[in-house]
Amino acid sequence: MINYNEPMLKDGALEGKNIIVTGGGSGLGKTMTRYFLQLGAKVVITSRNLEKLQKTAQELSGETGGEVLALRCDVRHYDEVEQMLHEAIKKLGKINGLVNNAAGNFISPTERLSAHAFDTIIDIVLKGSKNATLALGKYWIKEQIKPSTILNIVTTYAWTGSAYVVPSATAKAGVLAMTRSLAVEWAKYGIRSNAIAPGPFPTKGAWDRLLPGELKEKFDPAKKIPLKRVGEHQELANLAAYLMSEYAAYINGEVITIDGGEWLYGAGEFNQLEKIPAEMWDMLEQMIKNRKK
Ligand code: HXC
Ligand code: NAP
Repeated sequence: MINYNEPMLKDGALEGKNIIVTGGGSGLGKTMTRYFLQLGAKVVITSRNLEKLQKTAQELSGETGGEVLALRCDVRHYDEVEQMLHEAIKKLGKINGLVNNAAGNFISPTERLSAHAFDTIIDIVLKGSKNATLALGKYWIKEQIKPSTILNIVTTYAWTGSAYVVPSATAKAGVLAMTRSLAVEWAKYGIRSNAIAPGPFPTKGAWDRLLPGELKEKFDPAKKIPLKRVGEHQELANLAAYLMSEYAAYINGEVITIDGGEWLYGAGEFNQLEKIPAEMWDMLEQMIKNRKK
């Protein structure tokens, strides 16, 4: 029997794909990059920290034998994105995929935030995704590069909202709206646009910021997931590689949730009844039936 954390697609599934992964030097971006390389893609990884990117590039090309290019780029600045794209095209010939994965986030009561703090998250997540999407879209349309694909990494609170991470929720909701809007508008140019909404996948970047210190034990995310575990990186990489590949050529404008049922658990009116022990149900049933009589 196959295991859920095994690589899923067949060899060469991403051959001919040259993909930019923003925030590709660490966390989920690094995991996706590794699998894209294993499947034959060439990958450009970008973030603010060139040293980290170069280390990751060296590690992943050694591991997979694939071609990975490290380019510094702060996605908040459109001119840096354009420059990065220019370099990427020069080195790889063309680019036909984009994963908007770079993000910034921290927990805080909203009223404690300075205007600059709020802006910082909006700028990385919403403006950063817009910058990369706009630069790539203009290039693809002008040069008639197709098929090409955008994949945005959002979160489930893009549609539910979430207290204490309001700038991130606001920005991710914008990215989700952009995903669906461009799926329609740019389909005529051969550009697909999709999103993934992950639940908790342990990474240093997200978890040390969102669950610092003893919060990790207090709010163990696995406890509020119906499947009773957090996600494994390969599961997310499988989904991302599928959506970037031509196997998903008819999937456009979709957001796929991969969270073990987490957000629905929080949403269903009576989901908390799960805490009722089995032996109590006989008594409850009797009580309810007696009322009817
Ligand atoms: C309140 C804070 C703060 C905090 C920073 N600020 N941290 N305010 N609480 N914890 C304020 C600062 O005081 C400053 O405002 C403004 O935010 C900018 O801070 P800088 O440190 O100057 O910003 P910068 O160096 O650009 O760093 C950006 C960052 C940082 C977002 C603050 O955390 C970062 O680099 N993050 C990148 C990686 C990341 O966050 N990964 C997590 C992704 S997880 P003032 O007014 O003082 O100038 C995710 C979803 C997970 O996205 C969902 C899980 C289910
Ligand atoms: P992470 O390791 O902190 O990744 C964020 C990446 O973004 C880092 O590589 C960072 O690199 C880069 N980045 C931040 N600001 C940037 C900027 N201004 N310009 C360019 N790059 C920038 O966190 P992660 O957990 O892997 O998160 C990856 C994605 O998954 C994010 O979109 C996040 O919202 C989403 N997500 C994660 C989880 C989870 O449980 N892990 C759940 C839901 C959604 P530098 O610091 O080098 O710039």
